[in-house]
Amino acid sequence: MVTISILPGTLLLLTLLTGFWLYKTGRPLNIPINTIHKLSAVAAVILTGRIVVSHLQSGKTMILEAIPVTIVAIGIILIFVSGAILSSSKPPKQAMKTIHRISTALIVISFITFQLLF
Ligand code: HEM
Repeated sequence: MVTISILPGTLLLLTLLTGFWLYKTGRPLNIPINTIHKLSAVAAVILTGRIVVSHLQSGKTMILEAIPVTIVAIGIILIFVSGAILSSSKPPKQAMKTIHRISTALIVISFITFQLLF
């Protein structure tokens, strides 16, 4: 069943758009955009997490769902660690940019998978 979770989806989109803005404008980082980027990321993760946890508690869980849940958990750890390092390191480390991009892809794919599964 497709469940459209508008608020977490909008926040994820806002995080992606501000991420691309940061990428385009480069250093020094635009502080208001960077702040929106971080706050919308935290809010999107919390709201999506609540949906996933309440679904897991409902008892309707399929073993298949453990795969995107695990992938997204790893992706969230990687994105927050790389994001924090990118926010403070001057110049930004290319390896951290690559980790931030790969974990972005993991999170977006998992989010779409959640929409299809939950
Ligand atoms: C769902 C969570 C997140 C998503 C989807 C996301 C996505 C993105 C994307 C697509 C970019 C542009 C990538 C690039 O530079 O090539 C970006 C850049 C950036 N993000 Fe995030 N991000 C997230 C969370 C965070 C968090 C939590 C932080 C900080 C703690 C953060 C800090 C940054 C910084 C500093 C940049 C600019 C990197 C640079 O170009 O130097 N991000 N993000």
